[in-house]
Amino acid sequence: MRTEGDTWDIVSSVGMTALGVAAARAIETKQPDALVHDEYAALFVVASGDPDMNRLITDPTLWAQTPFTSGFIGYRSKFFDDFFLSAAAAGVTQAVILAAGLDVRAYRLDWPAGEVVFEIDQPKVLEFKRQVLTESGTAPRSDRREVPVDLRDDWPAALVEAGFDPTSPTAWSAEGLLPYLPGAAQDALFARIGQLSAPGSTVAAETIGNDVDIARIADQESEYLKGTPFDKVDLASLFYTDERTDPADLLTAHDWTTSSLHLQELATRYDRPLPPVPEPMAQMFDSALYLTAIKPS
Ligand SMILES: C[S@@+](CC[C@H](N)C(=O)[O-])C[C@H]1O[C@@H](n2cnc3c(N)ncnc32)[C@H](O)[C@@H]1O
Repeated sequence: MRTEGDTWDIVSSVGMTALGVAAARAIETKQPDALVHDEYAALFVVASGDPDMNRLITDPTLWAQTPFTSGFIGYRSKFFDDFFLSAAAAGVTQAVILAAGLDVRAYRLDWPAGEVVFEIDQPKVLEFKRQVLTESGTAPRSDRREVPVDLRDDWPAALVEAGFDPTSPTAWSAEGLLPYLPGAAQDALFARIGQLSAPGSTVAAETIGNDVDIARIADQESEYLKGTPFDKVDLASLFYTDERTDPADLLTAHDWTTSSLHLQELATRYDRPLPPVPEPMAQMFDSALYLTAIKPS
């Protein structure tokens, strides 16, 4: 179970979910109709030494077992890739990836010259990532800055310390993050984003509808994942299921313009049919929303 101030590395607790997402991106990268190409994802999995994730990325017979590895991560990654690229094309020169995990957009995306990309995550997650990226010998395609801090703490101070400029418009992402935060920390996260955002800033977030019984779904999902390579990722023990305000409501209350898409709409947008999602996981995937918000200039 989660505790106040708990910490993790890449193969424990919430850190393991970042490794799982990297494994899913490694698999997506191998698909003939891949929506993202992340050549670093497999490097992370190999370097972690985790036997289940290594078995998963090398054995295609396992990929149809869960929606994570049968296509879902492709839609999600592409949504956030497109979000950042369109913000950068519109002249936003600063990006903040909240809970970056093993996200390598700072290396993968074709950013305009001078783009500053901040990555916030727990210290041991970023340390592992740095070691692997350093060993790979490649350079980021942006001015990448690590911000090792817990998102339940005073992360704005750490961000500003790393060179963040609150007077410059920012593109923020919260991908695969919100259920891992207590409700109060999630609400504070969006309030702080609001305070730190100059006009013209944008946010993209994966959210789960407020009408959804997330505790029940997480329980069912943990049960479902037993016996798959994700056996160790017990979502029911990692998710916070306490009350929180819908981020779209928080942002619209502060005059941001918001819009949300369902996974099915992303599948239509990217012209790739959704693979079948078995119950009870279908409920989780049906309830996911991909929110975009813009703070008026
Ligand atoms: C499911 S992973 C998603 C990682 C990344 N956004 C991606 O999609 O590849 C969740 C990430 O959230 C990070 N995270 C969760 N709670 C956090 C907290 N309180 N402070 C900092 N990072 C946190 C974890 O360390 C992990 O990297």
